[in-house]
Amino acid sequence: MPSQAKIYVAGHRGMVGSAIVRQLQALPAATLITRTHAELDLCNQAAVQEFFRQEKPAQVYLAAAKVGGIHANNTYPADFIYQNLMMQANVIDAAFRNGVQKLLFLGSSCIYPRLAPQPMREDALLTGPLEPTNEPYAIAKIAGIKLCESYNRQYGESQGIDYRSVMPTNLYGPGDNYHPQNSHVIPALIRRFHEAKLTNAPSVTIWGSGTPKREFLYVDDMAAASVFVMNLPKDVYDQHTAPMLSHINVGYGSDITIAELAQAVSQAIGYSGQITFDPTQPDGSPRKLMDSTRLNALGWQAKISLEQGLALACQDFMHQIGL
Ligand SMILES: NC(=O)c1ccc[n+]([C@@H]2O[C@H](COP(=O)([O-])OP(=O)(O)OC[C@H]3O[C@@H](n4cnc5c(N)ncnc54)[C@H](OP(=O)(O)O)[C@@H]3O)[C@@H](O)[C@H]2O)c1
Repeated sequence: MPSQAKIYVAGHRGMVGSAIVRQLQALPAATLITRTHAELDLCNQAAVQEFFRQEKPAQVYLAAAKVGGIHANNTYPADFIYQNLMMQANVIDAAFRNGVQKLLFLGSSCIYPRLAPQPMREDALLTGPLEPTNEPYAIAKIAGIKLCESYNRQYGESQGIDYRSVMPTNLYGPGDNYHPQNSHVIPALIRRFHEAKLTNAPSVTIWGSGTPKREFLYVDDMAAASVFVMNLPKDVYDQHTAPMLSHINVGYGSDITIAELAQAVSQAIGYSGQITFDPTQPDGSPRKLMDSTRLNALGWQAKISLEQGLALACQDFMHQIGL
């Protein structure tokens, strides 16, 4: 890539997009292009084509998406499938039509079947039924992988395009959503333990038995992995993937129980009361762990431990609430 080539980060105000921007800004010689949602609605095909025609980026990180928890996915399934399909199709096609040779699409672990063998390998894709609560979102993400693969297969050789996909595990860190009802497990625990600390609550009760195991990756590690995968030489990427199985999992490499996580978060925020569990509430699947062998074999490993990451996430939470 020429030293002053433009890199477009779609979704640069989101948790992952902003981490990718931090990562790219630390590298020499990158000219970043960004647009807010208000400046460029990625669901608007004509506007997206015009943006690419004018800016002519050399590389694209596609981290814009309509993202939400179980409740939002269940309540607004049409928005989740329509907006994600539109954003991806518009950006990937406009990239192709305007000479973008390198693009990285961000998906999610929900592309894998509900009962996929653990840890989940890339080849578990399309081997069984999806989790019904976020099926529309997952179908859009699978379509995103297949868009990249299909453009590569049809135009890879003739136009020199090379569009890749990465599938992150659960992420946390700066820019997370700490909403009391709509947040993922780590930001929700940070808020609850912080509030319990302020009110000197003797105990905090966590939903479920505490025994399910989950994997968590700090978002700056995810951004580092994204830049790493984007910049792998094509022959190396091709050796580790297949034209119709081209995505790469990005995980931390190990998982912990929700009980262990709750303990770690309470320590990070400084809450010393008791932690109890309510096993009458649903647990979800017993285990969700990515198999990151493909990425590790390419030479990448997560660097930020859960302990370090939680300390940084707690700082971000305090900053967000103005403390
Ligand atoms: N967070 C996780 O734990 C996690 C885990 C696995 C995978 N991922 C994947 O990582 C990607 C980014 O997730 P995230 O957590 O960073 O989400 P996020 O914080 O919600 O960021 C998404 C960004 O996309 C923008 N966007 C949404 N619709 C748009 C539109 N129509 N036009 C232009 N911009 C639009 C949003 O802007 P507005 O807010 O202004 O709408 C926001 O800045 C997603 O593909 C997600 O599936 C995330």
